[in-house]
Amino acid sequence: MKSVSGAVAFVTGGASGIGLGMARALAEAGAKVAICDVHDARLDEARDIATQEGWADRFLALRLDVTDRPGYAAALDETEARLGPLQILVNNAGVGIAGPVDEATHADWDWGVGVNLIGVANGLVAGIPRIKAHGQGGHIVNTASEGAIMSARRTRGVYAPTKAAVISLTEHLRVELEAKGVDIGTTVVCPGPVATNISETENLRPAEFQVDSPFRDRSEPHGALPTNPSGINYWLEPLTVGRQMIHAILTNKLYVITHPAFIDSVKARHAAIEAAMAEDYLPRD
Ligand SMILES: NC(=O)c1ccc[n+]([C@@H]2O[C@H](COP(=O)([O-])OP(=O)(O)OC[C@H]3O[C@@H](n4cnc5c(N)ncnc54)[C@H](O)[C@@H]3O)[C@@H](O)[C@H]2O)c1
Repeated sequence: MKSVSGAVAFVTGGASGIGLGMARALAEAGAKVAICDVHDARLDEARDIATQEGWADRFLALRLDVTDRPGYAAALDETEARLGPLQILVNNAGVGIAGPVDEATHADWDWGVGVNLIGVANGLVAGIPRIKAHGQGGHIVNTASEGAIMSARRTRGVYAPTKAAVISLTEHLRVELEAKGVDIGTTVVCPGPVATNISETENLRPAEFQVDSPFRDRSEPHGALPTNPSGINYWLEPLTVGRQMIHAILTNKLYVITHPAFIDSVKARHAAIEAAMAEDYLPRD
């Protein structure tokens, strides 16, 4: 897209953290913005922010759980009726489910994969036909995690695979849309540490997934950050990520990777994969 001014955007998980930062950046760039979330108080706070910042007249806040497929279609119907045809879909809602694979229950998997991967798929199934239908072009943004491209770390064994899947699906979506000549750009946002409410994830767990899981009372749900030898503060503000997303939409960049400082961890993972592909690594006959 050459401009987002006047375009209609729908941001999931938009009442808090990175999603709210994306909504504010879209509004700053002139877009009309609908957000959805499962957290009522945060939806009210987002309305207040839109009013304070002067964009409440092009803002819509909807209660939607992204795993609710009929609800998703209804939310997009309401967005289009109130704001206009959908052009930018931001699949950002996610839960920072934290705990090791060997302790995970079925409920942990169902909730984590249900929100972080199937929630994105639900947005694509509901949203892409709408963007194709009006022929004005558009953009799909999916939020994954830098943790999904770094070397494996403890407590990420359920979370990181959901985000790795979101990276892969965005890469494939881009190739597929380009091959068909469809005018929809694609971006996957891979945040490192961003100052948000993600450590409160367990408060969002629906009753049906509330099991006696060790994931539920971890005191340090997200573990320690990698050591920073130069003393830089790693925590980014959500609005900064939102502005990086706008840049990526306008230039159709596939990857937004917020923390270049973690490149050594990515290189170490890639080096291990490349080493495993050496001719003499395995018997080849
Ligand atoms: N904060 C970080 O450091 C970080 C790093 C990497 C990736 N991420 C990803 O960024 C995205 C946003 O997370 P955040 O850090 O802003 O956290 P956050 O908790 O501040 O915001 C996420 C929002 O999503 C909402 N949400 C959760 N489940 C939902 C559902 N089923 N339907 C609709 N809304 C739902 C929550 O209520 C919350 O308001 C997530 O996908 C997360 O995995 C965050």
